[in-house]
Amino acid sequence: MDELKIPAHVAIILDGNGRWAKKRGLPRNMGHVEGCKVVEQTVEDAARLGIQYLTVYGFSTENWKRDAEEVGALMQLFRYYMKRLLNIAKKNNVRVKMIGERSRFADDIIAGINRLEDETRENTGLTFVIAVNYGSRDEIVRAAQKMLKDCREGQLSPETLNEQVFSSYLDTAGIPDPDLLIRTSGEQRLSNYLLWQLAYTEFYFTDVLWPDFNKDELVKAIEKYNQRDRRFGGVK
Ligand code: IPE
Ligand code: IPE
Ligand code: MG
Repeated sequence: MDELKIPAHVAIILDGNGRWAKKRGLPRNMGHVEGCKVVEQTVEDAARLGIQYLTVYGFSTENWKRDAEEVGALMQLFRYYMKRLLNIAKKNNVRVKMIGERSRFADDIIAGINRLEDETRENTGLTFVIAVNYGSRDEIVRAAQKMLKDCREGQLSPETLNEQVFSSYLDTAGIPDPDLLIRTSGEQRLSNYLLWQLAYTEFYFTDVLWPDFNKDELVKAIEKYNQRDRRFGGVK
């Protein structure tokens, strides 16, 4: 077999934490705890495989609709794993970036996010992008608001707006579009994830529940990706 071509940017919709726990008669939160461990491991695996960008959907703008208890537990996990992530990022030369609307989080979480970004900014290995309080429609509307404001203030003119300029207003400014999207747990939808950025991305769906995901599953997805014939609208 030819050598495996590693996609530069892998995006993941991690899903199935709740079902993983339910199958074992455990509370949903235990699924999230296992899921967080798998995120940590995946960051290290991705860095070692030579992936340049890994973008993971951690919490959507719609996830606030879950029970207060589950949302509260997720926030606690977020606090705990943010601290661990800082060490992992430093150890693995990983740069961390968050996308989504962070002002809705508690002050200490916002401070933790800012610290993670600030203290890993100069790292030159994998860029790990975490989408929290992220929704693609929300991102696009916020971008449009910023563009309108810049137009009003004379910083942007409607005539010069093009796809490149538009992209620069998104939370993902400066990050190339994903090459491969993975969604676990058998669901085959985007759930408001990276709608603009996934325009030409290859999709890979697996029935594996997120807490059972591992390096072998990641490599399997990359192998499938290698069999794809990407065209970007042209012919071959
Ligand atoms: C993904 O697992 C984690 C988050 C969305 C925070 P789920 O919590 O959606 O698990 P299922 O889909 O209910 O199994
Ligand atoms: C998408 O998963 C959001 C995250 C992975 C953070 P959900 O489980 O919330 O999505 P739906 O409800 O199945 O579409
Ligand atoms: Mg789900």
